[in-house]
Amino acid sequence: MQSSPLRFPFAWPRAAEPPVELATLREEPVVRVTLPSGDEAFLVTRYEDIRRVLSDPRVSRNRDRPGAPRMTEQKTKVFQNPRIDRDPPEHTRMRRLMAKAFTATRVEALRPHVRQVAEELVTDLLKQSPPVDLHEAFAVPLTLQVICGLLGVPPEDQARFRGSLGEAWQYMGELIDGKRRDPGDDLISALIGVHDEDDGRLSAHELHVWCVILLLAGFETTATQLGSGTVLLLTHPGQLERLREDPGLIPDAVEELLRCQIAGHSLSMLRYVTDDIEVGGVTIPRGSGLIPILESANFDESVFPDPMRLDITRKNNQHLVFSAGPHFCMGAALARLELQVALEALIRNVPTLRLAVPPSALRHHDSPLDLGLREVPVAW
Ligand code: HEM
Repeated sequence: MQSSPLRFPFAWPRAAEPPVELATLREEPVVRVTLPSGDEAFLVTRYEDIRRVLSDPRVSRNRDRPGAPRMTEQKTKVFQNPRIDRDPPEHTRMRRLMAKAFTATRVEALRPHVRQVAEELVTDLLKQSPPVDLHEAFAVPLTLQVICGLLGVPPEDQARFRGSLGEAWQYMGELIDGKRRDPGDDLISALIGVHDEDDGRLSAHELHVWCVILLLAGFETTATQLGSGTVLLLTHPGQLERLREDPGLIPDAVEELLRCQIAGHSLSMLRYVTDDIEVGGVTIPRGSGLIPILESANFDESVFPDPMRLDITRKNNQHLVFSAGPHFCMGAALARLELQVALEALIRNVPTLRLAVPPSALRHHDSPLDLGLREVPVAW
């Protein structure tokens, strides 16, 4: 392993291209890094090793332990909450209960709603005079309206919680109370009623926590991916042309845009090692921080031929953008649905869509906890 640690997250010399480190990172199975907090951690760099550590019981998401590495000195965003980051079996019980209400059928039933929202937003977009920030004008309102529709948040309340964990927490408490008295045909009402064979239920506190995570995790990540994925397409005109000619490629294109994503990094994947483990012949000692770096797995040449190339026709695209193991993203199916529908609506309705600035003018957020591009200026 290298003697002095690299800094993580890596810098973005060009916002529309992955950090240069990702091309060669897998030469070593384990790489030592310094986090924004100043604490150190180990990156696990290769696809198969990453899959393995994500399901290893010695690699815990719960960092509510003395001396555990911190991501930043700044206080928490959603995923740094020890009340959320439980391990199996407690986490497994909660996930099982959640899955009873947050089903594939419920997600698929949202498709017409997502279509309608996407069409309305594209119509509004085209009424504006370019340049327009696609993130604010299209991606955020789309994902926000969809998650609110799923959870049963009335449209007039949508502005109340954006960006503020405190406000979201209080708002969600009031909303859940209201739905206990007067249930609707929405996910929160369904979760209130959920119980398993042993009549286990989500406690009031667990329900509150999970609904806040769904609300916040449910729109920011997908909005960021929608904006930055569109940038990737617009900076690969050959691929965009291919997609316009054959919209049947949209599901494959969405997967490839996720694999090659320029939206973020895996800082929030930080884990705590509860017992010595060996990865690729290297021992990672108990008490260490460990990051399964998903963006490196997604460029692993032993799994993805010619990995740095964006290829919307790529088959068998088993990327790890949504993680794996017990914490696999609960919203993956919904995110995929939104990305497919939104991309289709954009491509069909805005045939001349282009970036309004040169790619070199795009910038990532400064704070390592804010993922994605600051703005996605587009014109048509
Ligand atoms: C492109 C969009 C998205 C990406 C890239 C993404 C990515 C991720 C990743 C990497 C994790 C796993 C963290 C870990 O292993 O530690 C995760 C967890 C999670 N995601 Fe997503 N996500 C997206 C959209 C969504 C949406 C739309 C929802 C909700 C509707 C959602 C809800 C969740 C929840 C609840 C968890 C926690 C699961 C657990 O700890 O058991 N995500 N997501």
